[in-house]
Amino acid sequence: MSRCAAADAPVTLSMAQRGDAIVLVGFMGTGKSSVGREIARRTGFPRFDTDQRVAAQFGCTVAEIFARHGEEAFRKAESAALMSVPKGDAVVVTGGGILIRPENARAVRRLGVVAHLTCGRGVLLRRLARRQERPLLQGPDRVARIDALLEIRAPLYRAAADFEVDTTELTHAEVADAVLGGVEKVRRHAA
Ligand code: S3P
Repeated sequence: MSRCAAADAPVTLSMAQRGDAIVLVGFMGTGKSSVGREIARRTGFPRFDTDQRVAAQFGCTVAEIFARHGEEAFRKAESAALMSVPKGDAVVVTGGGILIRPENARAVRRLGVVAHLTCGRGVLLRRLARRQERPLLQGPDRVARIDALLEIRAPLYRAAADFEVDTTELTHAEVADAVLGGVEKVRRHAA
């Protein structure tokens, strides 16, 4: 089953087989983009944002890609964008659905240390209510949709990640501190 493949495959990679990137995964609204920018600023690493890459490739917004070409076209381009990230120093910001493809779970682990950004449900719902452009959260039953997606995806994020950072009460700078600290710990532990 694909869910098992996604959960099992990552643990088979040793640290020596993994790259130097810092990869951020997590649900929409957990602050991946802002935190990725902060980490890139501090480390000087180049930043690869899969949503931005796909949008640039199509020449329109992610919402427009979903509307004009459908989710499958977006997912295909998203996977290709992830696979095109060169191995090396980098901050990789991923879209919230990237791990629904098992090969992407392996890819994020191959790129480097994976941090899972989480957020308490109440704060997450408030953050997501502020921005209306996310294509998967259009239409009625928004909250039920978020809950359903979270239920499916939380185990995928957990399986792929080396550690979690609960962003609920943290500023972006504090999340960046926690991510950089976590990466340091993972690398020290593996050395
Ligand atoms: C998606 C999350 C979005 C974007 C697209 C699909 C998802 O990215 O990739 O709208 O499936 O969760 P963010 O997590 O940056 O909002």
